[in-house]
Amino acid sequence: MKTFPDHFLWGAATSAFQIEGATDEDGRGPSVWDRFTAEPGRIRDGSDARVACDHYHRVDQDLDALSWLGVRSYRFSIAWPRVLPTGRGAPNAAGLDFYDRLVDALLARGIEPFVTLNHWDLPLALHDAGGWPARDTVGAFVHYAEVVMRRLGDRVRRVCTHNEPWCISTLGFGKGEHAPGERSWPRALAAAHHLLLSHGHATLAIRAIAPATEVGIVLNLVPTEPASPSEADREAARAFDGGFNRWFLDPLYGRGYPLDVVFDHVHAGHVPGPELPFVHDGDLRVIATPTDYLGINYYSRAVMRSAVVPEADNSPPTVVASGDKTDIGWEVAPSGLHAILRRVHAEYAPPKLYITENGAAYGTAPDATGRVRDLARQRYLWTHFAATHQAIADGVPVAGFYLWSLMDNFEWGEGYTQRFGIFWVDYATQARLAKDSAHLCRRIIRANALVDLEADLTEAAA
Ligand code: FCB
Repeated sequence: MKTFPDHFLWGAATSAFQIEGATDEDGRGPSVWDRFTAEPGRIRDGSDARVACDHYHRVDQDLDALSWLGVRSYRFSIAWPRVLPTGRGAPNAAGLDFYDRLVDALLARGIEPFVTLNHWDLPLALHDAGGWPARDTVGAFVHYAEVVMRRLGDRVRRVCTHNEPWCISTLGFGKGEHAPGERSWPRALAAAHHLLLSHGHATLAIRAIAPATEVGIVLNLVPTEPASPSEADREAARAFDGGFNRWFLDPLYGRGYPLDVVFDHVHAGHVPGPELPFVHDGDLRVIATPTDYLGINYYSRAVMRSAVVPEADNSPPTVVASGDKTDIGWEVAPSGLHAILRRVHAEYAPPKLYITENGAAYGTAPDATGRVRDLARQRYLWTHFAATHQAIADGVPVAGFYLWSLMDNFEWGEGYTQRFGIFWVDYATQARLAKDSAHLCRRIIRANALVDLEADLTEAAA
C-alpha cells in the first residue's frame, strides 16, 4: 500500500461566506459579496448566502463531522466583516469571539486550525472607499491581519493571507463573474498588485506578532499545455500560463512581473507602458518577503489552442480539454496536479507545499436508502491523492492535503447548483449526510495510505 509521510496533514477546507450564513448577526457588516449576490442576474440560481449551510449556528455539529472524518487539520476562513464590520477601526468583539471559540474547539478535538484571512469577503465599506484597486486597502488588510493574529496567534500555527488573488482580481475586476462584477483590466491588474503587496506587508506583521506561526499565500494554479506542438498553440499556452500562474508566482518568488505578460498587457492597452503605474519603489521587495509555504488549490488543467489558426483549420479558438468533466465543466486531470507540484518545486522551490484545496463538483443525491453513491467523486479524489503521493515520492515537499470541501455550500456565481462537499447538505433541513466519498476519505486518512479503491468499493457495496 502506498503510505503517506508521518504527520502528513490530512484536512478539509471551507470558507466563511460559503458556509456561515448569519450575515447580519452579532454585528457583522456587509461584504462585497453580500451586495453582489443581491444584484439581479449575478448568481446562476438567483440565490444568496444569507443562510448558506447555517454553519454559524451549527458549528458543533460540523466539528463532529471533522472528528468523525479523522482529519488532523481544518482550513477555514475568518469573515473580515465580522471582525471589522466597516473594515477599519475597533474590532467587533462578537466576531472575534466566534473564531476564538472555533479555534479552541478544534484544538480540544486535536484538530490543527489553518486560518485563511481573506477568502474574498472584503468589507463593503472598504470596497466603496476604493477596494483592491486602491493602494489604501493594503493598510486596511494589514490592520485586519494584526487584529486577528493578536487574538488567535498564540494558538494558530498556520495562516494564509489571501485565497486565490487571481480570482479576486481577474474574475472580480476583469471578467465581472465574481464580486464586485467589474470589467476593467487596468483595475484588475491594480487589484492583483495590491493583493500581493498586502500579502507581503501582512506576512511581516504576522511574523512580528506570532513568530511560531507558518505564514503563506494560497494560489489557484492551472498547469497549461498547448493543444498541438504548433507555434501558435505554444504561444497561446505561454500567454495563459503567464497570466494565470506566473503573474503571481514570479513576483512572490523574487522575479518581478513576467515581462512577456507585461508586454501582452501593453499590446492590449491595459497599461500604458512596461512601467506598471501601480508599482512603487520597494513594492517588489515586499511582495517577495519569504514565506513558510505555498498553498496550491488545484482543480484542473488547461489545454490551449491558439485563436490564430491557419484558415484551413476551423478548430475553435478556445481552451480544449479532452477528458471527463465534473458538473462545473472542469476537466478531470490528476496528472496536472502531479505536473504543477513538480514544476513549482523545480522552478520556485517553496520550503513546503500544502494542497489547500482539491475536490470535485458532482450533484449525486441520496438514493432511496439515503446513501450518496458518489463514485465519480471517489475516483476523482483517489486519483488526486495518488498524484500527490507520486509527487512526494519524486521529492516534492508536500506537507498536507485539504479536501474541498467538507460539505456542499454556496459556490459563488454558481449559487447552490454545484456540490463540492464530501458531506451532502439538505438545504431545506440543514441535515448533513456523509457521502460514500467521505467514508473513503475516512479510511484513507486512518490508514494514512491509499487504500485499494476498487477493493474498497466492492467491500462498501457488499
Ligand atoms: C476555489 C475557491 C473555493 C471554491 C472552489 C470550488 O476557487 O477557493 O472557495 O469555490 O474553488
